[in-house]
Amino acid sequence: MNATETTRPAAFAAPMAGTPLLEAVDVTKSFTQDGTPTQALKGVSLSVAPGEFVSIVGRSGSGKSTFLSVLSTLLRPDSGQLTYNGQDLTRATEAEVNALRHGDFAVIFQFHYLLPYLTALENTLLPFMRGLRPVSGAQRRRALECLERVGLADKGHRLPGQLSGGEQQRVAIARALVKDARVLFADEPTGSLDSATGATVMELLSQIHKDGLSVVMVTHNEQYASLSDRVVRMTDGLMA
Ligand SMILES: Nc1ncnc2c1ncn2[C@@H]1O[C@H](COP(=O)(O)OP(=O)(O)OP(=O)(O)O)[C@@H](O)[C@H]1O
Ligand SMILES: [Mg+2]
Repeated sequence: MNATETTRPAAFAAPMAGTPLLEAVDVTKSFTQDGTPTQALKGVSLSVAPGEFVSIVGRSGSGKSTFLSVLSTLLRPDSGQLTYNGQDLTRATEAEVNALRHGDFAVIFQFHYLLPYLTALENTLLPFMRGLRPVSGAQRRRALECLERVGLADKGHRLPGQLSGGEQQRVAIARALVKDARVLFADEPTGSLDSATGATVMELLSQIHKDGLSVVMVTHNEQYASLSDRVVRMTDGLMA
């Protein structure tokens, strides 16, 4: 599927053969809360090949979400290197990193963060919305295509409150897909769903991965982790 009317900066134009798509080397990150420092990441490395599906598992507090936030550029590491498609993101400008967030990278969370007063279709269109500029017919068609992809073609007019938890998460996935991302980061995407609903969301993520998207997922569920190409484990801020 090709997104309509999205632009990619030339620096991130196409994955280069033989290079990891995404690579973190010796990444550290600490937080200070009420004067107490916590070293959440103590030197974590991970290499993700183009089209690979990697799961990150580990106990609560081991640093999984922090690491996913660094990988997806939501958080700057204190030290270490992060490269995407051969480009050093720790040296990239804010504009280049923003372009990635709006283009190649998509993130979904345990809670879907849909806007409650927008319909499923409008929520899916959010990545295209820039100020007061109206979305185009092509963007609307693309959003409908993505809603269809997640099995919600007939529910685009509903508000999030009129959808089940699993359906809401599927809208969040449609919103992530709408701009034709290359890497999907998912932080416990099934964490707030019952097991049957979680299984449907996982099935969808697996299909999306088979369609060519690289996926990095944090999960507590070993069974879901086993659906990925590779499982890595974190313990106390380090790769186990
Ligand atoms: N914004 C923050 N401010 C202060 N400390 C933080 C912050 N974010 C995370 N931490 C701390 O960093 C450590 C790692 O947290 P992180 O959220 O990455 O763990 P996690 O593996 O995702 O845990 P969980 O499975 O419970 O989601 C924890 O000790 C946490 O308390
Ligand atoms: Mg977490």
